[in-house]
Amino acid sequence: MDKFVAMVGTNAKTSTNRTLLQYMKRHFADQAELQLMEITDLPLFNKPENSPIPPQVVTMATAIDDADGVIIATPEYDHSAPAALMNALEWLSHRVHPFVDKPVMIVGASYGSLGSSRAQAHLRQILDSPELRARIMPSSEYLLGHSLQAFDDKGNLTDAKDAKKLDGLFKDFLTFVKFSGELNNATGLNKKEAKDFDWSTLE
Ligand SMILES: Cc1cc2nc3c(=O)[nH]c(=O)nc-3n(C[C@H](O)[C@H](O)[C@H](O)COP(=O)(O)O)c2cc1C
Repeated sequence: MDKFVAMVGTNAKTSTNRTLLQYMKRHFADQAELQLMEITDLPLFNKPENSPIPPQVVTMATAIDDADGVIIATPEYDHSAPAALMNALEWLSHRVHPFVDKPVMIVGASYGSLGSSRAQAHLRQILDSPELRARIMPSSEYLLGHSLQAFDDKGNLTDAKDAKKLDGLFKDFLTFVKFSGELNNATGLNKKEAKDFDWSTLE
């Protein structure tokens, strides 16, 4: 069975994105093992060239390295992904590169009708950067709008259409992860390029 890291894209104590991932963990338990990953305890990224990488970053990088894929649930703040999520991704692209060629599914929930669509677009761009180089599932968006009303008191999605769409996309992700495993001819080189990448010598 595939093992996925499910990254909660916020440091807020209450979050409908966390509820969404908790729902996915329960709902898809017979198809994959989801391990929720929090980003709450990270310091602000400050480009530490010589000091040790914070241990929580090392733990997160190892968990992502070991996973078959990553699911990221992003809220939307000011038309973008939360600073806390960007902070986590900055740590995970500096001297550690666990996202290189890693299959990623993006989902998101927002209070309004657009379901974090702008945040997800930005997140795709970020994950495509040379030191992250994630393999993001194409042509797929899971936009959960009106997220404060989307779950019942047990944390299950109330709208059958929302649930069915997520079922379909998750099945697609399982297929995407399977095919992604075959796309490995350049992975060693991609990892080396990410590790050696230096913005200051970029022409
Ligand atoms: C500073 C701030 C900015 C926000 N900006 C947006 C926004 O641009 N778009 C949006 O849909 N919701 C915005 N919201 C409302 C919710 O935080 C947002 O819908 C979020 O995706 C909900 O996810 P969560 O329940 O996981 O926190 C904002 C909230 C705050 C506090």
